[in-house]
Amino acid sequence: MRHLMSPLDFTVEELDRLMDLATDIENNREKYAHVCDGKVLATCFYEPSTRTRLSFESAMIHLGGQVLGFASADSSSAAKGESVSDTIRVISCFADICAMRHPKEGAPMVAASKSSIPVINAGDGGHQHPTQTLTDLMTIRSLKGNLNDMTIGLCGDLKFGRTVHSLINALKRYSGINFVFISPEELRIPDYIRSDILDHNHIPYKEVIKLEDVMPELDILYMTRVQRERFFNEEDYVRLKDFYILTKEKMNLAKENMMVLHPLPRVNEISVEVDDDPRAVYFKQVQYGMYIRMALIMTLLGLDGKEA
Ligand code: CP
Repeated sequence: MRHLMSPLDFTVEELDRLMDLATDIENNREKYAHVCDGKVLATCFYEPSTRTRLSFESAMIHLGGQVLGFASADSSSAAKGESVSDTIRVISCFADICAMRHPKEGAPMVAASKSSIPVINAGDGGHQHPTQTLTDLMTIRSLKGNLNDMTIGLCGDLKFGRTVHSLINALKRYSGINFVFISPEELRIPDYIRSDILDHNHIPYKEVIKLEDVMPELDILYMTRVQRERFFNEEDYVRLKDFYILTKEKMNLAKENMMVLHPLPRVNEISVEVDDDPRAVYFKQVQYGMYIRMALIMTLLGLDGKEA
């Protein structure tokens, strides 16, 4: 039995196989319509979600399986004080696989250690969001053709943004990647990412404050929202929330084949006028998220024709 806690839980070769499977699913939906007949996915979400929870549920339904779960801690026995360890033991009696989101970093890992079914980390605090990373990799590979040799700008809340942390961690294994981190001083990437991931792996990067200064050099611009739920005081959030707004004018500075990704939800950081620009791919990204989660469910359940 295998869990998914971090994108690094899969080798680069395994990730390639997963993305190949997701592409085949995208192109041959009917072929996969019954591979999970009789299987049940539990979604245990202790934190709000639209995309991740519903794309997991949609993925399982499109594979012929069924879903159950809860969408908030308040609507589960967590509200009565039940531990994650006890909850996963219970869920293991009802389901074949579980996707869990939790505000505490490491909670899905604790669940995995007590679980008798595969557990997928669907986002733990400000730590990791591996299935968003799989979605991001799948989007870039599908639309750019590969995952090597590009300059990737990550913009916004790089301190609390778990999608950013997971993506940097995953991309360190590809060649020719050059990062540009665009953030206000208070929301710079954490020191451990700078030292343990970037410096340790000799990955070139620079940190800037102004988005306009670096737009012309980017192949990918990964926008993120300022994470209100992780701020200790509202005043700081209000001061920083509109620090970056991607507009048509700023898009005019970018390469013709640059792509804008965003894990969503968006608040104000991308003006809606950018949505019609063919380089804005954040809604396509959501669709890729469902295909890669279908491939992941099949793989962790050992239904992909390979050893899980
Ligand atoms: N991208 C993402 O994690 O979105 P949700 O919070 O809506 O799941």
